[in-house]
Amino acid sequence: MAYETLIVDIENHVCLIKLNRPDALNALNLQLLGELSTVIKSANSNDKVRVIVITGSDKAFAAGADVKEMSEKSFVDVFVGDLFTDETEELLRCRKPIIAAVAGYALGGGCELAMMCDFIIAADNAKFGQPEINLGIVAGIGGTQRLTRFVGKSKAMDMHLTGRFMSAEEAERAGLVSRVVPVKKLMEETMSAAAKIAEKSMVTVMAVKESVNRSYETTLREGVLFERRLFHALFATEDQKEGMAAFMEKREAQFRDR
Ligand code: HXC
Repeated sequence: MAYETLIVDIENHVCLIKLNRPDALNALNLQLLGELSTVIKSANSNDKVRVIVITGSDKAFAAGADVKEMSEKSFVDVFVGDLFTDETEELLRCRKPIIAAVAGYALGGGCELAMMCDFIIAADNAKFGQPEINLGIVAGIGGTQRLTRFVGKSKAMDMHLTGRFMSAEEAERAGLVSRVVPVKKLMEETMSAAAKIAEKSMVTVMAVKESVNRSYETTLREGVLFERRLFHALFATEDQKEGMAAFMEKREAQFRDR
């Protein structure tokens, strides 16, 4: 299917989604978010896809929600229309791992979109920020909540209250991104991480994603119990038998997602 705001390519079990509104630094308008939801939904149910990667251009991952599209909306428009709720639901529902490969600006909704992914690989030119305060609004798709969990209250307050941008180096130091690579190597490194994940058992990959995400939603004791039960449950899979046999036989495991 052809999209107007995205370039989508599925190869070697990886669905690569490139945000593609270069004239607007990939600002997230409703069309783009709608197309993104459609792609994520279909990737989630496509057996050929094991990992999803979302990226932008070297200049911008996404410079935020589309200010030009939002500027004339009233409170009633956005509240009754529940702006950005349906538009982001598919990302939260997706059970396959999603990696954000971020170069350039990841601001406002762009930073929030990256944080909704399972982890972020940043290029050395990446700039993260929540500058909504300069527009007289707050973040709208989780920025005040997720950034605080990533980097702690002090830095999250600093970012949201001043609207300043954070470099890739600072973002790595603060725990917002998992690694920083030279901008020219961003896609190579990200696709290599995606390929590595794609080789694993999909059952185990889904269990990992669910368990790590549970740590955001529950107490430590409940989270550890959830993890323990998943750990136990995976002993019912053929992939656990294969993974452990392969280790003992000193060979690569051949997982079958069973
Ligand atoms: C609409 C945008 C945009 C945005 C950039 N553009 N960001 N259009 N919405 N968020 C457009 C510009 O208007 C311009 O188009 C073109 O992209 C290039 O941008 P420039 O500003 O000329 O580029 P530059 O000087 O390099 O500055 C880059 C920038 C700046 C620092 C990223 O564009 C900027 O500050 N953008 C806004 C960032 C922001 O406030 N984001 C938060 C949005 S609110 P024209 O046609 O004029 O050439 C938000 C709320 C989240 O995200 C709610 C939940 C989703």
